[in-house]
Amino acid sequence: MSPKTYNDVAMPAFIYGTAWKKEATTRLVELAVDSGFKAIDTANQLIHYSEALVGEALLALRKKGVTRESLFLQTKFTSAGGQDHRTPYDRSADLTTQVRQSFESSLQHLHTDYLDSYVLHGPMTRRGLTPGDWEVWAAIEEQYQAKKTRMIGVSNVSSEQLALLCSKAKVKPMVVQNRCFAVMGWDHHVREICREQGILYQGFSLLTANQEFLGAPQIRAAAARLKTGIAQIVFKFSMQIGMVPLTGTSDADHMRDDLGVELLEPLTDGEVEAILTVGL
Ligand SMILES: NC(=O)c1ccc[n+]([C@@H]2O[C@H](COP(=O)([O-])OP(=O)(O)OC[C@H]3O[C@@H](n4cnc5c(N)ncnc54)[C@H](OP(=O)(O)O)[C@@H]3O)[C@@H](O)[C@H]2O)c1
Repeated sequence: MSPKTYNDVAMPAFIYGTAWKKEATTRLVELAVDSGFKAIDTANQLIHYSEALVGEALLALRKKGVTRESLFLQTKFTSAGGQDHRTPYDRSADLTTQVRQSFESSLQHLHTDYLDSYVLHGPMTRRGLTPGDWEVWAAIEEQYQAKKTRMIGVSNVSSEQLALLCSKAKVKPMVVQNRCFAVMGWDHHVREICREQGILYQGFSLLTANQEFLGAPQIRAAAARLKTGIAQIVFKFSMQIGMVPLTGTSDADHMRDDLGVELLEPLTDGEVEAILTVGL
């Protein structure tokens, strides 16, 4: 079943992430979609992503009959502090203009006239929201209200910042995308707000941020019972607690394994409860 946000827009249950793929981005996005991924995550930020190369893959896929509507495209606005000299907007312009320019440049890179999800890469500081964050958020809301994106969201956000955004924004986020640490109860506080507000929580680095806990007996026992791998258990667990996981695999077999998680027999309530305590 496809998870839905409070504005009733559905999203595929698993997202293919394109960070750090560099020149392999085009080949890997094509491979991911050919393997069965329907959702692609990128950002208009050349330090970590190659959004234009995602677009090249989309053109190649279109030639093979994969329509724009069959895919879920998500990209991000990254403020100047998170960019190098290749900023995809005029950094001397006001923030509203920066968001508008970045958004238009994303549409061009991705060869589309709308996005499924547009995400603020992160607030400017770790605590609270600055006047600049509010200006950027208002410019993102503007894209949503103009129906240029079906969802808007925020990434790298604390529970305090998310609560503030939800209470004061004209349009609250439909999506949160966070690095998900087991030692923080798998981002328990942020996930709680998402659950209360009907926001979809996307978890990244589920494997890489939790390496020291992946061999925990709770996870190994579930993997043994279901005769599957550790990665699959972590992704299945994440889906069962309401997350939409991201994977950044570059390996064709891992793509297949990761997608296979949706069809895997569910973990028991006891297994889910036990994995929730890993790392605590
Ligand atoms: N919003 C943000 O600030 C932010 C930050 C970071 C990431 N992200 C997004 O999240 C995406 C995913 O990032 P990530 O950190 O979760 O992933 P990642 O760093 O790309 O790493 C995934 C790791 O898991 C391994 N893996 C995946 N499936 C596996 C399997 N079935 N068995 C064994 N190993 C497996 C991969 O190895 P193989 O390649 O060998 O499979 C890779 O080493 C990014 O591409 C990006 O889109 C967003």
